[in-house]
Amino acid sequence: MKVAITGKGGVGKTTLAALLAQAYADQGRDVLAVDADPSPCLAGALGFPAELRARLRPISEMDDLIEERTGAKPGTVGGFFTLNPRVDDIPERFSVVHRGVRLLEMGSVDTGGSGCICPESAMLKTLFTHLLFRKDDILLLDMYAGVEHLGRATVDFVDAMLVVVEPTRRSLGTAAQIKKLANDIGLTRLYLVGNKVRNEDEARFLEAETPGLPVLGLLPADLKVQEADRLGIPVYDHVPDLKAAALRIAGSLSRESAGTAS
Ligand SMILES: Nc1ncnc2c1ncn2[C@@H]1O[C@H](COP(=O)(O)OP(=O)(O)O)[C@@H](O)[C@H]1O
Ligand SMILES: [Mg+2]
Repeated sequence: MKVAITGKGGVGKTTLAALLAQAYADQGRDVLAVDADPSPCLAGALGFPAELRARLRPISEMDDLIEERTGAKPGTVGGFFTLNPRVDDIPERFSVVHRGVRLLEMGSVDTGGSGCICPESAMLKTLFTHLLFRKDDILLLDMYAGVEHLGRATVDFVDAMLVVVEPTRRSLGTAAQIKKLANDIGLTRLYLVGNKVRNEDEARFLEAETPGLPVLGLLPADLKVQEADRLGIPVYDHVPDLKAAALRIAGSLSRESAGTAS
């Protein structure tokens, strides 16, 4: 099952990605979690120990590797480089595993929305495609903002895209934009996940104002989430209500994807 997690900055994508990754790992599933944020923080959210985190570096920052594989130095404009570099060894070689979760930091390239063609974007696009074609048991993509990495050729492999929102019109506005961009490339298996929900009113607000996306689940607002962050403990271990909500969402997701499997 391949799940992409998107939404506006700060809504809780990384928190949800870490919760789902640990939930599936604890069920004995093989989980590959991919951090595609330019400032990666999924390792911290998963409680990876310092010695493992020290071994992680976003692929987007590996200039020598990118040059070796594409034939051009990152940052160069023009010139020749391959659009289809070899990436099949990258997931195993540059990832680390903790408590059953394999984590890869991919990073991201600021293409300024222009879809710029440069060695580093060719590398990341090819890696993304490769990840979606691989036969991983569970692939979780912590996607930062947009859907630009997901080309038309890969959308068939995404079982679900979760759009995380807070109970605010602003984050629902971003969700509507994401829905449009996703639909434009043919991706329709989108679900809303509400986070930082404080009460019944906010839950009803999300149900009423969803931009046409089914609400897969809700995660409560809990001050212990920030406390977990300060203590350096995964939310999964520190906040029982969020763990319980994440287990429900993981179950719903498995059922949804079993129902839509072709
Ligand atoms: N359910 C929650 N209750 C309280 N705070 C939360 C909750 N979920 C996330 N947060 C806090 O919100 C901030 C952003 O969360 P994060 O998962 O990093 O968002 P994103 O990855 O979307 O940018 C963090 O400080 C996190 O501790
Ligand atoms: Mg994040």
